[in-house]
Amino acid sequence: MFDVHCHILPGIDDGSKNVEMSLEMLEREVQQGIEGVIFTPHFYADMNDPAMFLSKRESALKELESNLDKLDKVPKHTVGAEVHYFRGMSRSDDLEKLCIGKSDFILIEMPFRDWQSVFIDEIEEISTVLGLRVIIAHIERYFDQDKKLVKRLLNNPDLLIQCNAEFFIEKKTASKAIKLMKSGRIDLLGSDSHNLDTRRPNLAEAIEIIQKKDKKGSLDHIMRMGQTIFEQAL
Ligand SMILES: [Fe+2]
Repeated sequence: MFDVHCHILPGIDDGSKNVEMSLEMLEREVQQGIEGVIFTPHFYADMNDPAMFLSKRESALKELESNLDKLDKVPKHTVGAEVHYFRGMSRSDDLEKLCIGKSDFILIEMPFRDWQSVFIDEIEEISTVLGLRVIIAHIERYFDQDKKLVKRLLNNPDLLIQCNAEFFIEKKTASKAIKLMKSGRIDLLGSDSHNLDTRRPNLAEAIEIIQKKDKKGSLDHIMRMGQTIFEQAL
């Protein structure tokens, strides 16, 4: 299994505070059988200059990589970003630089304010104008948005849908998660882990729940998608 969304890189966003925490988070990923991890620090266009962000990300990655020999087993890893929606993003030359590794997959976080149809137009144009492959981060966080607009995202086969492990683990949302999985619309899973306690690496817990309910090979599909991204990223 692959963790395609996490904040394990040290000292770059509200995720891991230092290398020690990052190493412990990675150790937990390995213990849970995770074979590949994509580091996706937050990118906010109104707060980050892309060049500055990329340079900070590179430094954080180098710092972590120079300490990986402390781990018994190191998972495959690559870098991307969790790019928060911004107006005009589908016309931005910088967007491609925020894709996952060498791939053309990009993880996008939708706005939390009320959605308008222009937001969805913009997302669709990232694919049609820039030719990038959009992954919508934690779709479950937007289920109280305009249902028609959420449906438009879910019905667009060019967009990949990522859910957080928590969606399956939380009792309040587990049945919705299973329903979405059974509809065949979950492409990728992420821990979205930020630390070692409140938002810890937790994919194994979700996988255990999924395995009990998965009759249509949804987990295989999720694993294959993770594998495809890694093959293109590395
Ligand atoms: Fe995140």
